[in-house]
Amino acid sequence: MTRFSHGAGLDDKKLFAVPTTRTPLRLTRRVTEIQVSPTLAVLNKANELVAKGIDVVDFGPGEPDFQTPPAVSAAGKRAIDQGFTKYTNALGTRNLRDAIAARYNRQYGTKVTSEHVIAGNGGKQELFNLMLALVDAGDEVIIPSPYWVSFPDQVSFAGGTPVFAKTDPSNRFRPRFEEIEAAATERTRGIILNSPCNPTGAVIEEAELKRIVEWCAARDLFLVFDETYELFTYGDNRHASAMRWFEQYPETIIIVNSMSKTYAMTGWRLGYAIAQPELIGALGKIQSHSTSNPSSIAQMAALEALTDEDDTEVRRMFDAYSERRAWLVPAINDIDGFCCADPDGAFYIFPDVSAFFGRAGIHDSQSFATFLLDEARVAVVPGSAFGADEFVRISYATSMERIREGVRRMAEAVKKL
Ligand SMILES: Cc1ncc(COP(=O)(O)O)c(C=O)c1O
Repeated sequence: MTRFSHGAGLDDKKLFAVPTTRTPLRLTRRVTEIQVSPTLAVLNKANELVAKGIDVVDFGPGEPDFQTPPAVSAAGKRAIDQGFTKYTNALGTRNLRDAIAARYNRQYGTKVTSEHVIAGNGGKQELFNLMLALVDAGDEVIIPSPYWVSFPDQVSFAGGTPVFAKTDPSNRFRPRFEEIEAAATERTRGIILNSPCNPTGAVIEEAELKRIVEWCAARDLFLVFDETYELFTYGDNRHASAMRWFEQYPETIIIVNSMSKTYAMTGWRLGYAIAQPELIGALGKIQSHSTSNPSSIAQMAALEALTDEDDTEVRRMFDAYSERRAWLVPAINDIDGFCCADPDGAFYIFPDVSAFFGRAGIHDSQSFATFLLDEARVAVVPGSAFGADEFVRISYATSMERIREGVRRMAEAVKKL
């Protein structure tokens, strides 16, 4: 309905008043029920300040501050030069899917083939399509919390209900079987596990993962295992992948992985899923009617990354993250009010900042993040984005110099509280 600024009456001016508001856009329930990614909201505000020429230390981004390895970029350029610039198979090229299968077979002794693999525009697209393929209205999907921002919205978008299994900071947020089991109902359709976890860095222990895998298999639940940060585990922590049990439970286990973090390829948009061929076919069907296929150029670059035996570049990134983490965690804990567990993996720390609540109008993670942006010119992501309002996420995918500067500014700012 068009609304007018004045009610229609005898006065000509009022009768012919120009509508001041247009008919409201009618959006589907599906889309109104999901949120704009809150991580983007903070980045946007920080970007506005940067555009005004203000120096902001940005701890927001969930992407490597490194360049894509030169050999990988060169493969992308070669793809263009050689005219490999057309549509490909909706599932991705056979070569790329073979390379992904071979990599997993080498690592886990599995016997998957290209039939078990689909490549898409980022791990995010595969996660999204998986929910569309597996979740019906009324289905519940268990997600350990804190969680990566997109998981709940992807479940909701598919018509399902996310159900959270709270993890414990005193256990470094590592998911436990008991927490998952306690969240289950007769409507549970599956679980999404993310290890190492964004935002907490938690790496699930192998014994817990095995129990969860077996429990899912016994109950005919799907287990989506997102190992986007698989390479980034520190100290004694070892990445345990659900792929270890794929041969035993091929109908239960679905692996999602990405080129984004391991190879600093966020902008190329290339991720993939491994699952039983029937499910891969369903994902391919969705892809064929939506994005068609991941970029042919990105696929050639990804093929190079996965088949190049020289891992010098990836090691270099890993070493840099290790060094930053080793400096950052104690430095943050040295600031009165911050309390941060040692994160097992990924490139984030997730300190508890609730000690600041009740001071200077700060009452939650959002107001604390706003305080830091205003007072310290430091951007962090409020924990509310990840279902944990007492925390903030600090990404150390930025240089050591910026990390030191950001910590200095934060320490200075919170002294005022
Ligand atoms: C836990 C997790 N899963 C999946 C993704 C998706 O990554 P991409 O779509 O770039 O492959 C991200 C990206 O931030 C992530 O943090």
